[in-house]
Amino acid sequence: MSQFWKPGAEKPRLLDDEEGGVLFLAASASSSRLGHSSIQKQRQRLPVYKYRTAILYLVETHATTIIVGETGSGKTTQIPQYLKEAGWADGGRVIACTQPRRLAVQAVASRVAEEMGVKLGEEVGYTIRFENLTNTGVTMIKFLTDGVLLKEMMDDPLLSKYSVIMVDEAHERSISTDILLGLLKKIQQRRPELRLIISSATIEAKSMAAFFQTSKKHRGMEGEVLGPRIEPAILSVEGRGFNVQIHYVEGPVSNYVQAVVSTVLLIHDREPMGDILVFLTGQDDIDAAVKLLTEEVQNCGRNSLGLIILPLYSGLPRAEQELIFAPTPRGKRKVVISTNIAETSLTLEGVVYVVDSGFSKQRSYNPLSDIENLVVAPISKASARQRAGRAGRVRPGKCYRLYTEEYFINEMSAEGIPEMQRSNLVSCVIQLKALGIDNILGFDWPAPPSPEAMVRALEVLYSLGVLDDDAKLTSPAGFQVAEIALDPMISKMILSSSELGCSEEIITIAAVLSIQSVWVSGRGAQKELDEAKLRFAAAEGDHVTFLNVYKGFLQSGKSPQWCHKNYINYQAMKKVIEIREQLKRTAQRLGIVLKSCETDMLVVRKAITAGFFANACRLEAFSHNGKYRTIRGSQEVYIHPSSVLFRVNPKWVIYHSLVSTDRRYMRNVTSVEPSWLREAAPHYYKHQPPSNPMLH
Ligand code: CDP
Ligand code: MG
Repeated sequence: MSQFWKPGAEKPRLLDDEEGGVLFLAASASSSRLGHSSIQKQRQRLPVYKYRTAILYLVETHATTIIVGETGSGKTTQIPQYLKEAGWADGGRVIACTQPRRLAVQAVASRVAEEMGVKLGEEVGYTIRFENLTNTGVTMIKFLTDGVLLKEMMDDPLLSKYSVIMVDEAHERSISTDILLGLLKKIQQRRPELRLIISSATIEAKSMAAFFQTSKKHRGMEGEVLGPRIEPAILSVEGRGFNVQIHYVEGPVSNYVQAVVSTVLLIHDREPMGDILVFLTGQDDIDAAVKLLTEEVQNCGRNSLGLIILPLYSGLPRAEQELIFAPTPRGKRKVVISTNIAETSLTLEGVVYVVDSGFSKQRSYNPLSDIENLVVAPISKASARQRAGRAGRVRPGKCYRLYTEEYFINEMSAEGIPEMQRSNLVSCVIQLKALGIDNILGFDWPAPPSPEAMVRALEVLYSLGVLDDDAKLTSPAGFQVAEIALDPMISKMILSSSELGCSEEIITIAAVLSIQSVWVSGRGAQKELDEAKLRFAAAEGDHVTFLNVYKGFLQSGKSPQWCHKNYINYQAMKKVIEIREQLKRTAQRLGIVLKSCETDMLVVRKAITAGFFANACRLEAFSHNGKYRTIRGSQEVYIHPSSVLFRVNPKWVIYHSLVSTDRRYMRNVTSVEPSWLREAAPHYYKHQPPSNPMLH
């Protein structure tokens, strides 16, 4: 590989060194389908096992314990079990462990249930949005997303049923994790018996400790200090490890999907057996890489039989997830092509080679234009090290970085930016308001968001009628929107549909917008997919098209064959039905009248506008290439090729979300009338420049 690859100049070094290699953990063979006693043996081989007593002692004596340990050392699966064994779940109390990602919640919960030899959903359960697999009174260890825990705070502000809350993967600094950390710090002051564990794979323990340090002491009548020690304890779990040799490309790579494929083939041709883990950015490029690699392998006819090529991203059906975790059959080599979900949240056994594209999909937000994007952006050095680390679990491994060493050293940022500082804060603000936190700017954030983003969020919520002039939640609309706990724009759309008499339709649309896509992608037949779409396409746009798909699915008797024939993702449709049921129950609880508007799609579009007026765009006059501008912020955007309105280009549209690749594309688009925008949000469009034709 010497023509293409240049080994890192520096010798592999330990984790806390600046560049180069990383210290890695020793392997533990996958235990799937092993008996109980060998599972117990395997548990004892994990690095955290040596720290069991120390962890339990620290948790007993400290309000907050910060635990740092390499991915795979056993933090997520073992610590909740230790706590349970030590009695923290006695008396009906529950041990919670949060994860930023839904897929990780499911995967670790089922692993822990297996280790404990219990049925998932009983002693060990999990809750993610739209899915609750717990049994009140029985569940002792509960895995959940940090977002779900925040939602639970609305009914139980002190989270009183939990004895210990482990905020896992804290280094990811998702918005929900950050809000949660801020709120937990407050709760601690009211509940001295509550214990927090903050766990993470990378070292930012000191700043985290400083954040929790300032908690007030609990004092008794005489001013004596009560309860556990309030200064956080820090524990670092050391792992035995294998070195990972880093290779860099010699010059910049222009097409990283292509580069990934060539690198995988090179490894497969020239390197000894061992699985390959590839980091790409999202479903689109992962599907493209899987397709290309499959084709290349078929064309070359080389030792191709040995390759098992698997994609990994959130939203992957259960059955496919299981293939990822299944041990690789003898004589075969697994290639898992993943988003950064495999960076720290999930451990894949048997990986010896890592191919790192150097990119991930990240949220980015510009408060001035109010545009939030998912953009493909360079990762940080911290991420790059984590990714490399995945190669060293079974034996010394190799990591192929698709960027130059100079780039790594001189240009890559040391750490990522917390999501809080690069996101639209609408959902975040409404959650805090609903929890009675009125002074949002004064809230104790682990990383304060920008004041512009805050102001922008307050403005949108005000226009949605969720906040009043005093920036308090309106009643009932504000509380209802908070209760629905979806993106406030979707919640507002649902509330408006009640008045407009189309709640049945809008709830279907909301359910479809909650999943990734109803269409099957990656089957490699774009033309057939486009033709299938045409069978459902509605002139009004994608949202009404979804209604047609849903109707067709019901009429087919929810048939998998019908889905296959029409390039519709059967699993996704099943999920839509499930989510729809949940939304229906929530709607009913809020007193929303369930009613169908039958064929009147005008009211459906009006309801969508009532929620999404802030995402309105106008086709540029004389634009022959479909260039739109957002009404607020005047940003250049285009209709995404996957939309049924692609090339149709109605004059006024609203979109559900934006994606950035070479251009900014609107996804899920519906045509609207400009007058509806002012009707829906007079305040929001009040300050438009007079040159804007909307005002005339
Ligand atoms: O949280 P952390 O990264 O420290 O480790 P963990 O997720 O608790 O994983 C500990 C061990 O359990 C690893 O060796 C994994 O291989 C194994 N495990 C597994 O085999 N299957 C899972 N679904 C999860 C973990
Ligand atoms: Mg973990």
